[in-house]
Amino acid sequence: MPPITIKELLASPAPAAGVAARGWIKTRRDSKVMSFAELNDGSCRASLQVVFSAENGDFSGILPSLVTGAAAEIQGDLVASPAAGQKYELLARQVKLYGGCDPEKYPIQKKKTSDEFLRTVAHLRPRTNKYAAMLRIRAELAYSVHKYFHDNGFFYVNTPIITASDGEGAGEMFTATTMDLSNLAALPRTDKGELDFSKELLGKKTYLTVTGQLEGESLALALGKIYTFGPTFRAENSNTYRHASEFWMIEPEMAFYELQDDMELAEDFIKSITKNILEKCPSDMELFAKYVEPALMDNLRNITENKFERLAYTDAVKLLEPVNERFEVKVSWGVDLASEHERFLVEHYFKKPVILYNKPKDAAAFYMKLNDDGRTVRGMDVLVPRIGEVIGGSERENRLDVLEKKMADAHIDPLPYWWYLDLRRYGSVPHSGFGLGFERMLMLVTGISNIRDVSAFPRVPGYAEF
Ligand code: 4AD
Ligand code: MG
Repeated sequence: MPPITIKELLASPAPAAGVAARGWIKTRRDSKVMSFAELNDGSCRASLQVVFSAENGDFSGILPSLVTGAAAEIQGDLVASPAAGQKYELLARQVKLYGGCDPEKYPIQKKKTSDEFLRTVAHLRPRTNKYAAMLRIRAELAYSVHKYFHDNGFFYVNTPIITASDGEGAGEMFTATTMDLSNLAALPRTDKGELDFSKELLGKKTYLTVTGQLEGESLALALGKIYTFGPTFRAENSNTYRHASEFWMIEPEMAFYELQDDMELAEDFIKSITKNILEKCPSDMELFAKYVEPALMDNLRNITENKFERLAYTDAVKLLEPVNERFEVKVSWGVDLASEHERFLVEHYFKKPVILYNKPKDAAAFYMKLNDDGRTVRGMDVLVPRIGEVIGGSERENRLDVLEKKMADAHIDPLPYWWYLDLRRYGSVPHSGFGLGFERMLMLVTGISNIRDVSAFPRVPGYAEF
């Protein structure tokens, strides 16, 4: 029999003699005749109360070792608990200490729990209630993403992490190299003295991917509806609460979908996975509503119950121009809307999620489909309260000549994109897709306000510990 978890013990249909619980001690308190310890194994938010009574054994030798952070196996009887708020407790009969813990040095102390401090001990912070709850919700959210797409006829595909083309055309990529940069003199050079990337292990200059979209388009134009769910990397020097250098992105891509269909899918997807978390993680969600974001449940109802506003960029500009005094960057037609403008629209004006679409072409990625007006593209962003953009997507430019011209206008070398252009040569069809930032979605559902606290080991500018 594999070890039983505390979650399973607490869900036991009846009291049970002779069980063993394993985990880490959260706290222990002693009275004259008894001691009580909270044992937690991460399987659920609740800890198991363990009761040490002299009637059931002599624990005087081991008890001083059962301090916060120590790991132990406790054998005994699962009995109905007289205490409020817990169905069972464990009457200890035998204790095995796995790993002791020096309470003076253990960094996870009740008094030292600021988010900033906990980031410096990211290897131990999953032992706190809040981070364990976040990680359980993160796992459930990932599962609901797969379930949503699976149930709706999408195929899960994997796109490369090492790529030779810039999927956003924005130049914010990490180079992936096998060259020994500590020995510049020994690096292979061409006749012109430039670095010779043909000597790379993969035969050319490569990068960590910023998006799986371009390869996703190739697969959607064969399978119909696909999605990716993988790590992406941005070498953008943005030190904000919502930018990470490494994050996970979910990218559905659908053949025959136009922009309207794309927006509908995005709205339904966000609502569906939000509802799922509320349903599947009530106890962990209660922790966030109680201790992290008091308005959390209202915010989430705002997501699940309201129809998202559809707002064309040109109409957004008409709303924003009259209140330009509020903004650092003044709005006029053509200006790429920044976080301050997006948050005004979502939090002050509409007070609900907004899907902003039809952006000016100069503020958009090269692959977005040009509208007939010649100056806007069929792109869309889903904007939500507190976070701003959680989804960016578009209908894709499926006309070869228009795409080639857009790439030339944006000074993008078409050579590495030969295969992407082929998709417009052979059986091109209208198609659309979007990308959801998984960490931003987690910030939304948990109310956690910094992206550094929704990844176990965040990667942000200036930080790559662990
Ligand atoms: O808007 P983005 O850059 O769009 C794309 O990458 C498209 N290729 C997606 C597609 O159409 N298939 O990124 C999509 C989402 C953003 O809306 C945001 O939620 C998240 O990815 N994102 C980031 N999350 C954390 N840190 C960053 N630096 C992020 N950059 C984008
Ligand atoms: Mg975007």
